[in-house]
Amino acid sequence: MARILITSALPYINGIKHLGNLVGSQLPADLYARYMRARGHEVLFLCATDEHGTPAELAAAKAGEPVAEYCARMWGVQKDLADGFGLSFDHYGRSSSPENHALTQHFAGKLFEAGLIDEVSEKQVYSNADGRFLPDRYIEGTCPNCGYERARGDQCENCTKQLDPTDLIDPRSAISGSTDLEVRETKHLYLRQSQLKQRLSEWISSKEPTGHGYFDDASEQGNETPPAPPPLPPWPILTTSIARKWLNDGDGLQDRGITRDLDWGVPVRRGKEDWPGMEDKVFYVWFDAPIEYIACAAEWARGRPDSEWERWWRTDKGASDVRYVQFMGKDNVPFHTLSFPATIIGSREPWKLVDYIKSFNYLNYDGGQFSTSQGRGIFMDAALEILPADYWRWWLLSHAPENSDSEFTWENFQASVNKDLADVLGNFVSRVTKFCLSKFGEAVPAGGDWGAEEEALIARLQKGLAAYEAQLDAMEVRKSATELRALWVAGNEYLQAAAPWSVFKEDPDRAAAQIRLALNLIRVYAVLSAPFIPDAAAKMLAAMNTLDTDWPGDMRAALTALPAGHGFSVPDVLFQKITDDEREAWQTRFSGG
Ligand code: 2FM
Ligand code: ZN
Repeated sequence: MARILITSALPYINGIKHLGNLVGSQLPADLYARYMRARGHEVLFLCATDEHGTPAELAAAKAGEPVAEYCARMWGVQKDLADGFGLSFDHYGRSSSPENHALTQHFAGKLFEAGLIDEVSEKQVYSNADGRFLPDRYIEGTCPNCGYERARGDQCENCTKQLDPTDLIDPRSAISGSTDLEVRETKHLYLRQSQLKQRLSEWISSKEPTGHGYFDDASEQGNETPPAPPPLPPWPILTTSIARKWLNDGDGLQDRGITRDLDWGVPVRRGKEDWPGMEDKVFYVWFDAPIEYIACAAEWARGRPDSEWERWWRTDKGASDVRYVQFMGKDNVPFHTLSFPATIIGSREPWKLVDYIKSFNYLNYDGGQFSTSQGRGIFMDAALEILPADYWRWWLLSHAPENSDSEFTWENFQASVNKDLADVLGNFVSRVTKFCLSKFGEAVPAGGDWGAEEEALIARLQKGLAAYEAQLDAMEVRKSATELRALWVAGNEYLQAAAPWSVFKEDPDRAAAQIRLALNLIRVYAVLSAPFIPDAAAKMLAAMNTLDTDWPGDMRAALTALPAGHGFSVPDVLFQKITDDEREAWQTRFSGG
């Protein structure tokens, strides 16, 4: 059994996330976590709300609540939605936790000791109209790199370049639109990440394709006790190309300001000591947020010995055996390939570095973009109001924006739900259980033997299972869905060809053998489908009256797990079809404006 640490990018606390956010990190991370658990590995799957920074302060002000109360309330809202979508986090933490305060201050202290933090007198943008210093992301202007006119002061959304506000051409306040901005002097801390450029570059190189197919770094794979999952593939091109771009680009790894003039955040300290001159400042949200990946494990182990979380994170305390995989949207890649590793490496302490970064492109909505301000697109709360989580999980994962941006359309969603879920999987379950009930009763029927058709099906399923596992092991989300669907189709085609309803008239024993196999296949489908559609899988297992969730190794053995005489029940319809009227009504409701 291997140990797998999985984190998904931490959602900002302000506002409810849309389906594009969900499919870009938390949902595929959940797929992988569920799969790895199903294969018998020890998994720690962590996520948390990212609570600091100006957006949280402004959202709280808008809601008329103190920021701490606002964050506590919104944490609850996001946690409930995560539960609603079946996201199986072992812990859903908060970047505002005491654990993260302590660890963030600890890292700052270590980086300072290592000579990697400079105190710098800095010029910062002050807005006279707004009467305040403007945080980076509240300054908008034209990107000096690509010319995009609505680039933010911290990053250009269009070309992903990390920016400083003073880089922007024609800057203006994003709060008031005012261009009456002036630059004032103030002292800040800078992380000298440029010093680590060589180390980071070598590390990224070790994750790029070697030309031999799979990446096999003995130092990382050698310690796992068998049966370990297969070696990790090279990192996705999307991940390494963004990392390379910012590493090789002359200013890609500039020293970075890690403090801000805000009230809400982690107070600036070196370990447990005050930091002279920094009394009114907090750490920059992008400094403390990734450290929450570690602090989240400490929150998870609250009340238990530190060794319990340290064995996941400290390589001197067992974590060199851990495989650590991160999931995120492409805009987060620079922070995870460069900034956070710089914090870890720069601390000179034995913290675990990520082994694999799975990144995603963007999901668009029906001919445009999701828009929070215009209410355009589907948000997590509204999605669950209209349909169960599995419908969304299936569509989103089977259309994950892996190789390019992808698009949600209602026509495609309707077709996918009606065909894949209702016609293929749902129909198989319903036909088999209802037919058995009417001819043999509510128990797995005895009699008859398997023949050539069953042997052919078993061979097809065995091969399909290997293909499915290979795609899941490689975190190829869409291809995994394709392979799972192919397994469902194989069962349907067998049933159609075997036609037990006709065979029954001449040879009831033969029909019994066919249905015995098909009922067993429902259990196997439940186990294999659970990472994608956990609620439907649970209903299928309940209907099959079994707690046996063993991942099938040998298909033949798996297809005899439920013996003759084993009672079952006919489940309610697993998936309702989406009608044209529903589709049109939802299309109008979510069009925004
Ligand atoms: O882009 C975002 O939604 C950020 N809140 C992600 C943070 S990930 C991590 F580093 F905390
Ligand atoms: Zn740009």
